[in-house]
Amino acid sequence: MPSLLILGGTQEAAELARHLTQETDWRIITSLAGRTRNPASLPGEVRIGGFGGSSGLVRYLQGEQVNLLVDATHPFALRMPVHAERAAGLAGVPRIKLLRPAWQAEKEDRWISVPSLQQAAQVLPRDCKAFLATGRQELEPFTQRRDVEYLIRLVDSPEDPLPLARYSVIAQRGPFRFEEEQALLREHAIDCLVSKNSGGSASYAKIQAARALALPIIMVERPPVPPGALARSVTEALDWIGEIIR
Ligand SMILES: NC(=O)c1ccc[n+]([C@@H]2O[C@H](COP(=O)([O-])OP(=O)(O)OC[C@H]3O[C@@H](n4cnc5c(N)ncnc54)[C@H](OP(=O)(O)O)[C@@H]3O)[C@@H](O)[C@H]2O)c1
Repeated sequence: MPSLLILGGTQEAAELARHLTQETDWRIITSLAGRTRNPASLPGEVRIGGFGGSSGLVRYLQGEQVNLLVDATHPFALRMPVHAERAAGLAGVPRIKLLRPAWQAEKEDRWISVPSLQQAAQVLPRDCKAFLATGRQELEPFTQRRDVEYLIRLVDSPEDPLPLARYSVIAQRGPFRFEEEQALLREHAIDCLVSKNSGGSASYAKIQAARALALPIIMVERPPVPPGALARSVTEALDWIGEIIR
């Protein structure tokens, strides 16, 4: 019986695990980094926590006799995709990166595209009220902008104060609806958004809401993708898996 390891933390990873557990009798393991306190339940086996770099992942792939590796980590996960590519090569395990397409700006959109969160913090308009939906680990670059008032959305309520001069927090887990996002932006009198170009539908409603309210978005573009096989959707990943395991 083949064993497949999915590096998860995304909707696509969960969807892939759902398909494979329903449609095959293979051993399906999803790996999570362990950042979220109460992750949504997943079908198949779940393991949580880092592997200890690419060498740790090689040991895991060999120890668990993994036949296929699907890297379905988030488009902004920086290290895991590199480790996955290296470890799969060393262990001789076929690997594919599952990466949803990036969002594209539409005619009415007011995007300011930047390559990093550091640059996003620098280009925020002076004294603005900014909605920041980039994640807890990524607030540091914004601490210097003491003139900006932030609305921060996180999956879990923070246990300690955040390192920002002026802010309020909402703890919410997506997906979010357009009407709710528009109401949120209005209610908090937001005049600018900061977003990573994550792609996908779960967090697209804020982009649509900003468009409807003609608000600018500082859009952080994605890091480079490691070389190798690439699937743009769960269907494409399933096709690739089917080709390898016949
Ligand atoms: N970055 C984002 O914007 C974002 C958004 C939503 C979800 N996520 C998810 O959150 C996780 C962490 O994100 P990140 O930006 O910190 O990633 P990262 O920079 O690629 O990963 C940092 C370290 O966390 C561990 N790790 C990451 N993903 C893992 C996984 N699926 N299973 C086991 N260990 C994992 C690895 O530790 P070792 O070196 O010890 O193996 C890795 O070196 C990812 O799985 C990603 O899919 C990230």
